[in-house]
Amino acid sequence: MKVRFATADGVREEQGRAGERLLDVAQRAGMPLEGTCGGDLACATCHVVVAAEDAVRLPPASEEEEDMLDLVPDARRTSRLSCQIRLSEAIGNLTVSLP
Ligand code: FES
Repeated sequence: MKVRFATADGVREEQGRAGERLLDVAQRAGMPLEGTCGGDLACATCHVVVAAEDAVRLPPASEEEEDMLDLVPDARRTSRLSCQIRLSEAIGNLTVSLP
């Protein structure tokens, strides 16, 4: 499945595999997502905003992810932590932007 990353510098597309974390795909694509805590839900440096039409196919955020997102100053309605999203055939292609 493909992931499109929209940044201020333009759009970059990267191929992802089922089971792979969105954070890992983003880092492979050279996106500036630090992922400082390595996916332990302790940093929110992996924050992305998922396109609204794609966000509906994602499993809902856990309470812990919601709690971290509450601390993100520029969080939006479809904000997610990319370390918590695993690609799958069911989710399919994704477009996300980096705030
Ligand atoms: Fe730290 Fe996602 S990498 S919360």
